[in-house]
Amino acid sequence: MGRWYTMLVLSLLEPAVRAANLTSHVNLFLGTQSGGNDFPGVARPFGIVKLGPDLYVSGTDSYSGYLSNGNFSGFSMMHEQGTGGAPKYGTVSQLPLVGDVSNPLSNITIGRSGADEASVGYYKAKTSEGTLVELSASAHAGIYQYTFPKDTTGNILVDVSHVLPSYRGQGLSQHYKGGNITIFHDGHYEGHGVYDNGWNRSPDWSIYFCGHFDEAPISNKTYSGTDAKGSVQQSSGHASSSSGSTRVGAVFTFKDTTVISRVGISWLSTEKACQNVENEIPEDTKFQSVVADAQSEWDSEVLSKVTTSNTNETTLELLYTSLYFMHLIPTNQTGENPSWTSSEPYYQDIFTYWDLFRCSTALMQVLQPVAYEEQIRSLIDIWRFEGYMPDARSSNYNGRTQGGSNADNILADAYVKGVRGAVNWEDGYKAMLKDAEVTPPNYPVDPMAPDSSTKEGRGALPDWLSLGYITPRFSRAVTRAVEYSCNDFGLYQVASGLKKEDDATKYLNRSRNWRNHWNANQTSLGFSGFVVPRNESGFIETDPLNDSGYWGDPYYEASSWAYSWASIHDMKKIIEAMGGDETVLDRLNTMFTEGASGSSGIIFDPTNEPMFNIPYLYHYINRQDLSVSQSRNIAKSYYGVGVSGLPGNSDAGAMQTWLLWNMIGLYPVTGQTTFLIHSPWFDSLTIDLGDGKHLNVTSKGGDGNGGGDIYVQSLRVNGKDWKKNWLTWDDIFVRGGTLEFELGESASGWFTGEVPPSPAS
Ligand SMILES: *[C@@H]1O[C@H](CO)[C@@H](O)[C@H](O)[C@H]1NC(C)=O
Ligand SMILES: *[C@@H]1O[C@H](CO)[C@@H](O)[C@H](O)[C@H]1NC(C)=O
Ligand SMILES: *[C@@H]1O[C@H](CO)[C@@H](O)[C@H](O)[C@H]1NC(C)=O
Ligand SMILES: *[C@@H]1O[C@H](CO)[C@@H](O)[C@H](O)[C@H]1NC(C)=O
Ligand SMILES: *[C@@H]1O[C@H](CO)[C@@H](O)[C@H](O)[C@H]1NC(C)=O
Ligand SMILES: *[C@@H]1O[C@H](CO)[C@@H](O)[C@H](O)[C@H]1NC(C)=O
Ligand SMILES: *[C@@H]1O[C@H](CO)[C@@H](O)[C@H](O)[C@H]1NC(C)=O
Ligand SMILES: *[C@@H]1O[C@H](CO)[C@@H](O)[C@H](O)[C@H]1NC(C)=O
Ligand SMILES: *[C@@H]1O[C@H](CO)[C@@H](O)[C@H](O)[C@H]1NC(C)=O
Ligand SMILES: *[C@@H]1O[C@H](CO)[C@@H](O)[C@H](O)[C@H]1NC(C)=O
Ligand SMILES: *[C@@H]1O[C@H](CO)[C@@H](O)[C@H](O)[C@H]1NC(C)=O
Ligand SMILES: *[C@@H]1O[C@H](CO)[C@@H](O)[C@H](O)[C@H]1NC(C)=O
Repeated sequence: MGRWYTMLVLSLLEPAVRAANLTSHVNLFLGTQSGGNDFPGVARPFGIVKLGPDLYVSGTDSYSGYLSNGNFSGFSMMHEQGTGGAPKYGTVSQLPLVGDVSNPLSNITIGRSGADEASVGYYKAKTSEGTLVELSASAHAGIYQYTFPKDTTGNILVDVSHVLPSYRGQGLSQHYKGGNITIFHDGHYEGHGVYDNGWNRSPDWSIYFCGHFDEAPISNKTYSGTDAKGSVQQSSGHASSSSGSTRVGAVFTFKDTTVISRVGISWLSTEKACQNVENEIPEDTKFQSVVADAQSEWDSEVLSKVTTSNTNETTLELLYTSLYFMHLIPTNQTGENPSWTSSEPYYQDIFTYWDLFRCSTALMQVLQPVAYEEQIRSLIDIWRFEGYMPDARSSNYNGRTQGGSNADNILADAYVKGVRGAVNWEDGYKAMLKDAEVTPPNYPVDPMAPDSSTKEGRGALPDWLSLGYITPRFSRAVTRAVEYSCNDFGLYQVASGLKKEDDATKYLNRSRNWRNHWNANQTSLGFSGFVVPRNESGFIETDPLNDSGYWGDPYYEASSWAYSWASIHDMKKIIEAMGGDETVLDRLNTMFTEGASGSSGIIFDPTNEPMFNIPYLYHYINRQDLSVSQSRNIAKSYYGVGVSGLPGNSDAGAMQTWLLWNMIGLYPVTGQTTFLIHSPWFDSLTIDLGDGKHLNVTSKGGDGNGGGDIYVQSLRVNGKDWKKNWLTWDDIFVRGGTLEFELGESASGWFTGEVPPSPAS
């Protein structure tokens, strides 16, 4: 074979071969159990449609629709990824049923036969009646392929009132509020449903649908009715209701064993829903071609951005599955915004920036610079039309803010790392100023925290502005204070860049206000100095180990031990306040050795985001080696490839991005250009940065799977010896770059000792 011929064959074959390789490393069921709540159904990167099963187990919330046990209540088009709180969506569903269907609107569920199966772009389940359900999807439409058992009557139930309910009893359950469905002469159906509530306490929202079957049904019926009275058949081919007490739906009956249904959804209208399915999955589309398109999109747009010479299947599964799950939300809803008209991009399903600002958004910028710029523009547009950027948002509604206004951190990070393009930064800064200066109205009142708004912005601003700290008249006071400090640091960064010197001075000063909550005399486990609740009379006694805080408490979902480290922009001051490097070393070690009172584990809690930075903070006291060992130990002990492979809720991929940075060998310090250097897992890893640029990371001495020798012996950055334990965005991302590590079995003195910056100290 001539050389020319070989090259041609390789270049023709390579993409297909690569597609098969990379998507095959994604395990859709990784992290679906034990609280990970990963969504294993079918979706495209940032796609609006997430088509998957909805499982019903009495008294159990199914956050992503999927549970490993229980009965199917439907296969629906909309889901979130990896969230907790309370379920959202589960809307626009179909359910296959065999035989006579009596009382179709009575929350019918059907058993499951065997475990579901899934691969990228494909989902398969079997009901206890023997019906095979196969699913695939595009961004705004889905395709269902049903195979009913031979010699039975196959029906498809479309229950417009179907949602994922919540059984937790916190008043966060979604409700059906009305809707309609019409069956047309050609057999297709259209309609919409109205729903409310869910974790973000949303008011009524509507979604429109348009469904087709590949053959005419032998019979079709529409129904309306109440749970109590049963369903009443409507003869007109149309059913509607204007309240949640009357449910609507339809049943289609088929003679063939195989039935294909294509369904489009839209946030705008049934016409748009019909257009969406016609554009993306037109009539006569082969089911398998939708699967193939989905695989090739995931391969080219997401998975192939990161490549490695590694061949360990376990490690590749962790890598590619993590990349997959960070790309499901936010959803790109550009062209599908029901709330205002604008030429800006529109992304929503943000769940939540409280979870995402440390690791995910920084990685999103690296891997998806185009989508990331669109996301930043969308955030600013939400402020432009609704008055505030979201900390969380779904069904086009901002809510609920757990701590600070963390979109400020994300804008700051994007700004200092050079995101410009079509971003209007003067407006971006105005959006941040709104967070920093204007208290959001406390409406609607959140019964779990009635003192101030949780919808958006900073509810506890009145204290923050007048006192420089937050008194207990505001819930989550300590959490909010440390997060507001970090948010104000974000304002300082953008104000500096925009040459607003007075503002920069003001917000840098305000970013130090966490210090007002620092009680040097508060002790715990022999250490003193913690962030504590306080009021005008002074500090209030607390137990820094207590980790049971929720919406109404001073600390939210983490303890004072955790929140005392939170102000990473002012690390030098924290170290001073804690008593210097040696004490900080002991205190960090204690995070990983001592148990929290009343719990069996260690103080460090790998299941929740406020702890994400902590294993890396050894960098600031010149013990990069301990950041390496501590963070690697956490990655290896708490993450894995099984169905329980995540330590906590994925939270839209936040957990996965913490792991990905550990694999890469860098850790981002959000709001600054700083990256902490630790130690990579792979002998060789290449990240495609777009525009022909790459970041190439190589290491010698490790086992290529994050095991073996992990301690850095030497490092070359872009071919030159590197003696700092940190580097900046400019060093390796702007033009691309190389990191060449040599690893060994014990700590070495490879760096000179210049610690990462503490710009507020
Ligand atoms: C991809 O698959 C082909 C064919 O199975 C195999 O030869 C090749 O080594 C694989 N490459 C990687 C990176 O796994
Ligand atoms: C599960 O479905 C089966 C029929 O497939 C039904 O008999 C059973 O009652 C259902 N269980 C629940 C809890 O709904
Ligand atoms: C269904 O409801 C929508 C929204 O209220 C309405 O515009 C439409 O006319 C209704 N369809 C029918 C057939 O009544
Ligand atoms: C639906 O059923 C009605 C009778 O109930 C029939 O007149 C109509 O043609 C059917 N439509 C389709 C698309 O089969
Ligand atoms: C059906 O489920 C909804 C929650 O989605 C619940 O409010 C309703 O009570 C249920 N109805 C029956 C008859 O179980
Ligand atoms: C693959 O990596 C895993 C850890 O990620 C390790 O336990 C296993 O031994 C490795 N397998 C081989 C063959 O190196
Ligand atoms: C987001 O969606 C819009 C409209 O479909 C599209 O033009 C844009 O390219 C999408 N963005 C990305 C990053 O795919
Ligand atoms: C900094 O903030 C403190 C209150 O925390 C205030 O007394 C001081 O005037 C501020 N300094 C500047 C330069 O704004
Ligand atoms: C801390 O304790 C010392 C000694 O008891 C006392 O002088 C000081 O005022 C206390 N500081 C605070 C902030 O309570
Ligand atoms: C501050 O809190 C303490 C302890 O709860 C209380 O005794 C004191 O009255 C409070 N001071 C003010 C000004 O509210
Ligand atoms: C721990 O914090 C919770 C929430 O603030 C509080 O209800 C509880 O009393 C605290 N427990 C201890 C031991 O301080
Ligand atoms: C980085 O890796 C890519 C892909 O393997 C390669 O094309 C590029 O030449 C490498 N760059 C450097 C500077 O090594």
